[in-house]
Amino acid sequence: MKNSKASKLTQSVHAGSIGDPLFGGVVTPIYPSAAYDYETEVRYPRYYNTPNQKAAVEKLVALENGEDGLMFSSGMAAIMTSLFAMVKSGDHILFQHDLYGGTHHAALHELERYGIEHAMVDVSDLKTFEKAIRKNTKVIYVETPSNPLLKITDLAAVADCKKSWNCHHHRQYVCQSGKSKSN
Ligand SMILES: Cc1ncc(COP(=O)(O)O)c(C=O)c1O
Repeated sequence: MKNSKASKLTQSVHAGSIGDPLFGGVVTPIYPSAAYDYETEVRYPRYYNTPNQKAAVEKLVALENGEDGLMFSSGMAAIMTSLFAMVKSGDHILFQHDLYGGTHHAALHELERYGIEHAMVDVSDLKTFEKAIRKNTKVIYVETPSNPLLKITDLAAVADCKKSWNCHHHRQYVCQSGKSKSN
């Protein structure tokens, strides 16, 4: 149902649903298998592609008008996997300064161990935020609503800045929702 014209209510029920081909049930069954028959499709569980992972991700992707997604068992796993996929030693991440404690801790104590630099700046002051962008800034990380202060980040304004700042094409934006667990 990706890019479907169906209403969000319909998508929330049907997107990603594969039903029950064996008995005709209308709800996608829960598949507890950790191993699958590789002859039909490679489904190694740690590739995020087991039937229930796919069903849940497709639903979220449809509801968020996204392209694709991955599902993690924790927010920090999603954050760190995303960041490590985008940066390497010598790169720089610009975080908004009002951040979830775990992300703050990871920036201070984990990323630095890998030679990844960072700055934390008040994103409500866009001019100062803009000034903190460096040549080696590969990721801009914002959180809305922020945790714990529930500050709302103006995502459109941050995205607009991207254009006027003439960013490299490979600079990435990570937006983490503080109160939804969809990550
Ligand atoms: C904004 C934000 N990011 C990340 C996390 C971490 O999520 P988890 O506890 O699932 O690792 C939380 C948890 O509350 C959060 O609020």
